[in-house]
Amino acid sequence: MRRIIVGITGASGVIYGVRFLEMVKKYATDSEVHLVISNTAISILKYEVGLDRESVLKFADKVYGENELSAPIASGSFKHDGMVIIPCSMKTLAAIAHGITDNLITRAADVTLKERRRLILVIRETPLNLIHIRNMELVTLAGAIVMPAAPAFYNKPRTIDDMVNFIVGRVLDLLGIENDLYRRWTGYSEG
Ligand SMILES: Cc1cc2nc3c(=O)[nH]c(=O)nc-3n(C[C@H](O)[C@H](O)[C@H](O)COP(=O)(O)O)c2cc1C
Repeated sequence: MRRIIVGITGASGVIYGVRFLEMVKKYATDSEVHLVISNTAISILKYEVGLDRESVLKFADKVYGENELSAPIASGSFKHDGMVIIPCSMKTLAAIAHGITDNLITRAADVTLKERRRLILVIRETPLNLIHIRNMELVTLAGAIVMPAAPAFYNKPRTIDDMVNFIVGRVLDLLGIENDLYRRWTGYSEG
């Protein structure tokens, strides 16, 4: 059984988070998903994707509110195989970079780093200021993987879905979850 913690925060691109949840269940059927959606993310989910919180809960095994600091995932004693924050706002990045654990997402991320477990932050902001860049450096030095939500074009995406799937497929790759969500680069010859 593979245990994954998923945080969805209030950056544009919450569709990445929703697709990731769907695809974990599709490609890692043995997975146990623990989900936290921030309050801002819930509003953006409604605005950008037209979904309410309840409609994404079905992809998770356990769901917590962002202020549920007594949840199991807030403790280092909770064993898991990786935490993904998708998308990750600059505010959440900043909190993680500076050890500010004032909600369940930042606390679970902090704990993940201290236990030397895998933490993937799918950040979404552009352009970046020096504070963002320094915070990315800090979390990287602490062991996190910063993964900008920057889809490639070498796989010739035709739809928004193709672009979303590329990012989600790469996150699954980082977790060691086999998937065929995007066309992998095999060289120019195949066009
Ligand atoms: C519609 C909308 C889109 C946003 N997009 C981004 C974004 O792409 N990146 C970002 O860092 N913040 C973005 N924000 C700002 C964050 O939501 C804000 O900083 C918030 O405090 C993040 O809180 P959270 O990380 O706890 O969800 C957006 C806000 C709104 C309302």
